[in-house]
Amino acid sequence: MIPKSFIQDLLNRLDIIDVIERYVPLKKAGANYSACCPFHNEKSPSFTVSPAKQFYHCFGCGAHGTAITFMMEHAGMGFVEAVEELAKGVGMEVPREAPLPGQLQKKAAPDLYEVMLSATRYYREQLKKSSRAIEYLKGRGLSGEIVARFGIGYAPDGWQNLESITANYQDKSLVETGLVIEGDNGKRYDRFRDRIMFPIVNSRGQVIGFGGRVLDKGEPKYLNSPETPLFEKGRELYGLFQAQKPIRSQQMVVVVEGYMDVVALAQHGVDYAVATLGTATTPFHVQKLLRLTDQVVFCFDGDAAGQRAAWRAMENALPHLQDGKRLGFLFLPVEHDPDTYVREFGREAFEYELHNSLPLSGYLLRELSAKVNLQTQEGRSNLLELAKPLLLAISAPALALLLRKEVAALAGISIHELDSLYGVKSTIAMPRRELQKAARPAVSNMRILLRCLLFRPGLARELPDNLMADDGLVAAIFEIRSWIFAQDEEVTSAALFQFFQGTVHESLVVAEQAEIIQWGEAFDVQAEFQGVLGKLEDEARRKKFHQLQAKMAGNDINILSVEDKALYLQLLRRK
Ligand code: CTP
Ligand code: MN
Repeated sequence: MIPKSFIQDLLNRLDIIDVIERYVPLKKAGANYSACCPFHNEKSPSFTVSPAKQFYHCFGCGAHGTAITFMMEHAGMGFVEAVEELAKGVGMEVPREAPLPGQLQKKAAPDLYEVMLSATRYYREQLKKSSRAIEYLKGRGLSGEIVARFGIGYAPDGWQNLESITANYQDKSLVETGLVIEGDNGKRYDRFRDRIMFPIVNSRGQVIGFGGRVLDKGEPKYLNSPETPLFEKGRELYGLFQAQKPIRSQQMVVVVEGYMDVVALAQHGVDYAVATLGTATTPFHVQKLLRLTDQVVFCFDGDAAGQRAAWRAMENALPHLQDGKRLGFLFLPVEHDPDTYVREFGREAFEYELHNSLPLSGYLLRELSAKVNLQTQEGRSNLLELAKPLLLAISAPALALLLRKEVAALAGISIHELDSLYGVKSTIAMPRRELQKAARPAVSNMRILLRCLLFRPGLARELPDNLMADDGLVAAIFEIRSWIFAQDEEVTSAALFQFFQGTVHESLVVAEQAEIIQWGEAFDVQAEFQGVLGKLEDEARRKKFHQLQAKMAGNDINILSVEDKALYLQLLRRK
């Protein structure tokens, strides 16, 4: 027993911010800190930690608690373990209170783990006695050694076989572990009957649940333990206990869908596989695996359900990615699952596929670009919209940046445009080329005039005859104008582009085409045209003024001709 006062001291001594920060990157938000919630999948942060109050609360899923709760829920520790871990972090030693005599004297109920262990032993014994069950497992290619490694057993047919593992079939532990079901009439019976039994083991090696498979045809194919005080599906991975060492030594883990996939892979030497337990891959699963290894490959069945499962796994993984870790996605041919694949093609073929699995980035981009038509504006803007929540959920800065770059490229915009669109505060300095572009002098007025003409050729009629500029573009503009005047009908942009193909002005026209494509039909080209003509006029006037000024060259105004004098005075007033 840990004294209550110690718990208080501990909570006073440590800072919840430090504790959580070790697992979840926190951002200061006013008086509090916030992050995307580690307990559910979300795109915008609703997980809030108060340094003043020393607790956390998620406005999205309601998760809440202290530093101790956090260690239990997030790192999967028990209460005592969490307290010990935290105490160690702040240099405190956990005192133990000896139970007072008389306390705890009540006859201890059977430990739930003990009950599960007895059941496991029983099922394994029964397997030895059932040639039918043995034949079934042999038929699926499993050796006795592998069956033993996974503790696989057999629950014989019959309603109350588990009477033989307990002194009291009425004890509540049997129901609490999910081994026995209590009917409405209070009558009890075994949950698992005539099934192959796959024990589900936690990371300490304790049996916490079972999956039971029918031997022949029958529904449901798999029957699983319900959620119990020992067993929470979203946190456990089948086969993890057996795979822990191989995962560390291989620095790789394969996540598959089924019990049989894990066992068959192990049978063929791929002993670093685990399975989710009939649930989606949760954020918790991802975190747990990324703590063990740098490389996680999701291998789902080739069918539609497998595709959905992969997408969910990807979504749930995004907030937990770290740079330097690799997530891969492997899709087997539709007719296969890892079990049938490894049995048909063997370990080497399967491992070859694993090593060539699609990286998360490739998978994400492939799926997104398959959903939209990148040939159209709408498609590209759709892509930006679909990608936004996913890209923003990625916690690994380098990976997030690379993916934003790729999505930007697919959408035909720059990373800086994408970041401002997504409201990402860019952590990267603008590359020199972009800087130069940004600092580049504004587009010349003549060029804008040319764009206006290309956008709406009819504007050529409104061009003044005395357009002056020493811009080389003037010649091109007048050539365009005379061509337009020579046409009987109204000229469209397309016709204009077509006409200039193969001429000396072709490259000029094409360069401007790329610009005006972005103006859109709603662009007020008339206003732009008038504006730029006004500027050109000003420019010409100023130039003339300076010419006259230079002519005077320090002399008085009377050196100018009568006309020039009048013009100079006029320009001087306008200035
Ligand atoms: N599952 C389940 N309940 C079911 C069916 C499936 O819990 N009624 C879970 C089990 O964990 C199972 C996994 O989903 O291992 C994958 O199911 P499925 O692909 O249908 O089965 P396989 O693993 O291929 O099983 P088998 O090869 O034994 O037919
Ligand atoms: Mn299968």
